[in-house]
Amino acid sequence: MPHIPVMVNEILTFLDPKADQNFIDCTLGDGGHAKAILAHTAPNGRLLGIDADSEALEASSVQRPASRYGERLITVNANFRDLAAIVKENKFGPVHGILLDLGFSTSTLERERGFSFMKDEVLDMRFNPKTGIRAAEIVNGWNQQQLTELLEEYGEEGLAREIANKIVAGRKTRPIVTTKQLVEIILMAYREKLARKRHPERSEGSRYIKKGRDSSPRAQNDSVWQRVPWIGGIHPATKTFQALRIAVNDELNALQETLPQALEVLQSGGRFAVLGFHSLEDRIVKQFFKDWTDVKMKLLTKKPLVPTQEEIRVNSQTRSAKLRVVEKI
Ligand SMILES: C[S@@+](CC[C@H](N)C(=O)[O-])C[C@H]1O[C@@H](n2cnc3c(N)ncnc32)[C@H](O)[C@@H]1O
Repeated sequence: MPHIPVMVNEILTFLDPKADQNFIDCTLGDGGHAKAILAHTAPNGRLLGIDADSEALEASSVQRPASRYGERLITVNANFRDLAAIVKENKFGPVHGILLDLGFSTSTLERERGFSFMKDEVLDMRFNPKTGIRAAEIVNGWNQQQLTELLEEYGEEGLAREIANKIVAGRKTRPIVTTKQLVEIILMAYREKLARKRHPERSEGSRYIKKGRDSSPRAQNDSVWQRVPWIGGIHPATKTFQALRIAVNDELNALQETLPQALEVLQSGGRFAVLGFHSLEDRIVKQFFKDWTDVKMKLLTKKPLVPTQEEIRVNSQTRSAKLRVVEKI
């Protein structure tokens, strides 16, 4: 399924691309935003499209056919944390606008690198599979305390300690190398919690739950064990997968390093839009914009813009999106 670009109209309104201007899309992905920007900057405006995932770059809709935009399009397979160097190497400028659409796309989920908890795949999660550590190395190598902190900090996971304990216990039997193995472990932690809620007399140390599965006669008919307990509409593995993905790709540090570089490469009057999808990244963007407002930039979105109800209805993955935009002074 192709990725549906998020908040395109709002991004076009705020970046305000015009004929012959140059833009940087730091997260090219399927190219939905890039295409829209290129349409507005015709006939001679250029776009520098960056993506850490070489498969994403190759498959991007802006590359089909390859000659479509000619010299107007430059693509670079790199991490956006090297933004200033990439701009310099490609002698790209003046830069009128920059877009960061954080995280992963629908196509990323289809790359069979373990981004999805709904499929059984290798536990990898690297945007760029040529470099860095795989999720399986963290899951099998970090100690219980490190795993707990990871799930708490990057996943804001309420059952961090329980899941970490189960990972450490589970990997003693055999290494955890697939998404399915990990999801089963997470479900076990959630199911135990639900069972304790329903049957408070069963402590974690009870003889039934000790082995990770409730084998009591009563539990055989207990629906808690039969189905995935979606909590508040969220799959129990969501937060653990988010935490691992952030750690594997060092996402928060990459973002932190990129924000000042974006300001540096923008020309005066140029605009910078950041689309975030969870509170950890939005907090970093919000703070950075706050620190530099009226010093190096004007804040164009006092409050973050969010998708319309209609957009969320059509594309539920946008529901947590927040868009913040500034203009360089
Ligand atoms: C949400 S998608 C972008 C979708 C795109 N705006 C579109 O309209 O199709 C994010 C993309 O950024 C890439 N990405 C994530 N972190 C990156 C990083 N640090 N450096 C470069 N690319 C990154 C991912 O591989 C993914 O393709």
